[in-house]
Amino acid sequence: MNFKTIISSILFISAGITIYAQQVPLLKKSVVGNRIVEFIPKGFDKTKTPSLILASETKSKGKLPLDWSLIPEFAFKNNKASAVLNLKGDISLYGGGEVTGPLLRNGQSIKLWNTDTGAYSVEGGKRLYQTHPWVMGVRKDGSAFGIIFDSTWKAELITNSDQIIYNSEGALFRVYVIDRKSPQEVIKGLSELIGTIKLPPRWALGYHQCRFSYDSEKRVMEIAETFREKKIPADVIWMDIDYMQGYRVFTFDSIRFKNPKVLNDNLHKKGFKAVYMIDPGVKVDKDYSVYKTGTENDVWVKKQNGEEYHGKVWPGDCAFPDFTNPKARNWWAGLYKDFLNTGIDGVWNDMNEPAVNDNDFPEDKRLGTMPYDTPHKGGGNLPQGSHLLYHNAYGRLMVEASYDGILKTNPTKRPFLLTRSNLLGGQRYAATWTGDNYASVEHMKLSVPMSLTLGLSGQPFNGPDIGGFLGDTSGDLWANWLGFGAFMPFARGHACAGTNNKEPWAYGAEIEKTSRIALERRYRLLPYLYTLFYQSSKEGMPVMAPVFFADVKDSRLRAEEQAFLMGENLLVVPAFAKNPMLPSGIWEELNLVEGEKTDKYQAKLSIRGGSIIPAGKVIQNAGENSFDPLSLFVCLDANGKAKGELYLDSGDGFGFEKGDYSLLTFSAEKNKNTVTVKISGQQGKRNCNEELKKINVNLLLNGKTYLGSGTLKGGVTITLK
Ligand code: GLC
Repeated sequence: MNFKTIISSILFISAGITIYAQQVPLLKKSVVGNRIVEFIPKGFDKTKTPSLILASETKSKGKLPLDWSLIPEFAFKNNKASAVLNLKGDISLYGGGEVTGPLLRNGQSIKLWNTDTGAYSVEGGKRLYQTHPWVMGVRKDGSAFGIIFDSTWKAELITNSDQIIYNSEGALFRVYVIDRKSPQEVIKGLSELIGTIKLPPRWALGYHQCRFSYDSEKRVMEIAETFREKKIPADVIWMDIDYMQGYRVFTFDSIRFKNPKVLNDNLHKKGFKAVYMIDPGVKVDKDYSVYKTGTENDVWVKKQNGEEYHGKVWPGDCAFPDFTNPKARNWWAGLYKDFLNTGIDGVWNDMNEPAVNDNDFPEDKRLGTMPYDTPHKGGGNLPQGSHLLYHNAYGRLMVEASYDGILKTNPTKRPFLLTRSNLLGGQRYAATWTGDNYASVEHMKLSVPMSLTLGLSGQPFNGPDIGGFLGDTSGDLWANWLGFGAFMPFARGHACAGTNNKEPWAYGAEIEKTSRIALERRYRLLPYLYTLFYQSSKEGMPVMAPVFFADVKDSRLRAEEQAFLMGENLLVVPAFAKNPMLPSGIWEELNLVEGEKTDKYQAKLSIRGGSIIPAGKVIQNAGENSFDPLSLFVCLDANGKAKGELYLDSGDGFGFEKGDYSLLTFSAEKNKNTVTVKISGQQGKRNCNEELKKINVNLLLNGKTYLGSGTLKGGVTITLK
């Protein structure tokens, strides 16, 4: 370090440890977007800290506004870079991506080192499967800011009420600060930097049924058929590792999954999609084609001495693709072709922290992953670097390669990919779930702030293992969890090997009925949910939002983490919620299906004054027609007005990018004793007059429901009596 750069020693208080670090001056600060500023410390070197977070390189658009007050300070000591943002005033902090603990992050710290953590047990839940070096602060007046630490090095993120501290174990990095008038605007700013999700296929918004594992074609079909016989809506059955031949990825067990094409065709005939798991570890086996071609293409991670790195996963010793290398990513992408051509609809990438079972090592030598100094090749835009740099990006680079392979195989379909490990910005490639939770009331309640925090960290497409993965699940827990889990963006039931059956009918007739009601409610709301996903794919808004989004100035709502919003117009209060803090203003109870009101497990739903929520009828899978008729639930604001949107398209493929979609805006207005609901705007070229022939309006006013019906063209007029 140059003498001049050592201006002073500043004090960092890090989790109770006092360290002195050398302050590093700023090399550059420039505006790179609407109230987005990039800070580059002197000595920053892209070849030491490449960006894997940003969607594209930023461009300088001018000088810092004069009133800009949020300026991070950088420091560097013992080859470890850190940054701190000093905060003034009373600020509510959020973010950090996948975290346990409260929604409100003041006074929390997390470790950023992606880890396989069953029941969130590693380091007391401070270290999970993903890395999101991102914090958002909301001021008392509702204005907000956010900060990205653009680094993948092993790190710690501390969110004290007066300081946000990011201590990395690697080279200097860039920082991005967004300062805007509301948290919603800050989240939009975040997505301007890191991108958004791609619009998923509509079926991915249905209910997913999983287990580790449905272990034969016969069992899979039994599960699928039972959903249809019992008329419980569902869209997807998941194949966990036992479909493979000896846990070799991209293979099928020659006895139990002997004919995947027939299985997938049969699932399709019943209106189901099939998602299969693919892990990164490839069994070291000279007779196994994936290992052979990987070796021929020189794709494996190698140790410093040049030997292949081997670590144990499900199949025993495995080699790992070096996803930092474009050639390796390309090879990996190519593996999906034959695999998906069996009719597979979606892919589940797991164990991609990467998780390595080193339990046979002495305890102090166990890392649960590759040694820190394991080199990665890099290539293309990425420099060569150690595992300490690339570990937190391993899953993110894997899903980039998987996404490419899936899209190349089926260029006319929207890829659906789920990943366990990821990095801030990785929502561009894959949805996520919150890993191996436990079947407990504690983890059920925790699933709400976990999902909310991911949504506030750029990953709207997420959800927990509903019912809990590890341990046995009781009927009561299942029903409580599904009662609100049905309104989470990604809704999947899953169960670990050795635990009880956890399908909706596994707990007896009463809970089966509860499950059906919960899922019927989700399916009625699919048009609204799909519209939210569309909006999220445009601007990055969370699909599941914290209650404080309804009124960012109401300080009572800042820590609410039992209730949540679906979009901004639907309030979900889970049955377990005790004295939740709810937004004031007009909210009317929303009832969707028979039996929900008397079922103690169902979440309470309310629609916000001033909004119109589009809904469909109960369907058994997302491929069926929702709109016969289209229902509009209308709740007027204090001025007697309401509006809402409905997005629709073919549900898959990319026609919507060429205009084959409809984005309808509805508005309602009260005039004396009539309320008129009509279309007030339409975008897109899709002719939806046929699809939306009939409209039913449910006007919810002062606890009463007024019904009306009409056509898309003519609108609907209701007379209040
Ligand atoms: C990991 C996953 C879990 C999966 C299991 C077997 O524990 O997190 O969801 O069922 O591996 O593949």
